[in-house]
Formats: sequence, structure tokens, C-alpha cells
Amino acid sequence: MIARSDKDSDLAVAAHRQPAVTQPPPMPDLAAALHRSRLSDPGLRADFARQGAFLCLDEFLSPETTSQVAASARSLIHQANRSYLPGHKQGGSVSRYTIERLAPFIAQLYRSQALIGLLEGICGDTLLPCPDDDPHAYALYYYTRPGDHIGWHYDTSYYDGRRYTLLIGVVDDSSCRLEYVLHTRDPDIPEESGSLQIAPGGLVFFDGDKLRHRITALEANEIRISLTFQYVTDPGMRPWWRFVSNMKDAVAYFGFRQLMRLRKGGA
Ligand SMILES: [Fe+2]
Repeated sequence: MIARSDKDSDLAVAAHRQPAVTQPPPMPDLAAALHRSRLSDPGLRADFARQGAFLCLDEFLSPETTSQVAASARSLIHQANRSYLPGHKQGGSVSRYTIERLAPFIAQLYRSQALIGLLEGICGDTLLPCPDDDPHAYALYYYTRPGDHIGWHYDTSYYDGRRYTLLIGVVDDSSCRLEYVLHTRDPDIPEESGSLQIAPGGLVFFDGDKLRHRITALEANEIRISLTFQYVTDPGMRPWWRFVSNMKDAVAYFGFRQLMRLRKGGA
């Protein structure tokens, strides 16, 4: 498989078209950010279980917090590392390390106990943030060039425990769709296919090893940016799986420069 990874000048050009963010946005009131969320609805746990560890909600973040996240995401667009894996993936990614440095309120939201508690109520597991050396813990994904997409996959856990994905809509002026198949790992339940768009401020929450999914290709003059938070039930990882995970992240997402930073212990 041929892989290429580089900073894309198109992204830099696109960044200049966006309004410049000269001052970092203020830290959001996290309680307010989640206050209007329906995540505390007790029926969601049953929905999540019935759909094979999958849930989507149109409204999650408040409009104010959604706007802050979107402004930060647009300001970081020139930081995205673009990767091409023919037949599987094309697009840009910004890892937790860049977000931590330049958009720390997103990191704060990721670690919010209020948020984690709500997610635990839905999935029934005790959730932990990913270890500091996992660039996927919270990351932004940019679809900015026609054909940007990701093919069918699972968000496989290389950890000793389960890995849950919280996918948050940030910017979506696109025809891209999240297509998914439920119950693929349960032979006793018929598979169920679905397709949706995640509105800015909306979410999808799922067990990464159970949901087969893809993002369909971007068309011309479209843009889509999403934010993902990953949580685990056991942060342990065997050395071989650590190696596989690092190589996958370097090739498919964040580049080898990121990997080298990790080995040096920097960010
Ligand atoms: Fe995924």
C-alpha cells in the first residue's frame, strides 16, 4: 500500500479564507456547555444498548460552545497533517498535542468529569481518558478537498479494555454522510444499516470495536470538520499493540514527526 503524508498547502490556503482568530477563545462554562444536553435522559442507556452500543443525538453542545469549537477548529486548519491511503482514507488530522497547545478549552472539555459521568451513564462502563501518549485521545479531522473520506472500518481498541468514541459535529457544509452497520459482531441480531449527518453540536457515541462505519467522500466546494474524544475502560496496552497503534497513527493520521516527538517525550 502506498502512503503519503504531508502538510497540504490547500489547507493553508483555506485557512486564510477563514476569519482569523487572534485571541484564544475564553474557556467555556462546561456546566453550561452540557446543561442543555439530553445526555442525562435515562432512556438513552436503553437506546444505546438496543442499538449495539451506538447512539446519536442532534443536540449535545450548546450553540455557544459549538461556535467556540468551530472557531478553534477553523483556526487550526493549517496545522492539519494530510494523509492519503489509497482505497481507505484521505483527509487532514490535528492531534491532541496541537489542540492542547492552541485550543486548551477543548482539552478541558475532554477531561470534564461532568461529560465523562454522562457518558458512563449511557454505556454502563467506568471510563478513563486515554494515556498522554495517545494522539487520538482528542483530535480534529478535516475534510477539505474533494474526495476526502474514510472507508469502512472499526475504531479498533488496541488497549486491554474497550475504547469508546465520542464523535462531535463541528463544521458541516458538506454532503458527507456517516454510514454505519449495527450488530456486525453479534450473530444473534440481524445487521442494521444507517446513514446520517452529524449537525454541528450533535454527537455520535459508540463502542469502537462494535460499529462498522465510514465517512463518504467530500464533493467540490464543501468542508466538514469533526472532533472526536476517545475514552477507555483499561489504559493498559501490550508493547506489540503499542507499536501497531503508533505506526497506524503515523501513517494514517498524524505523521512520523508526531511519533518522533512522542519518543522524545515532547508534544
Ligand atoms: Fe472511525
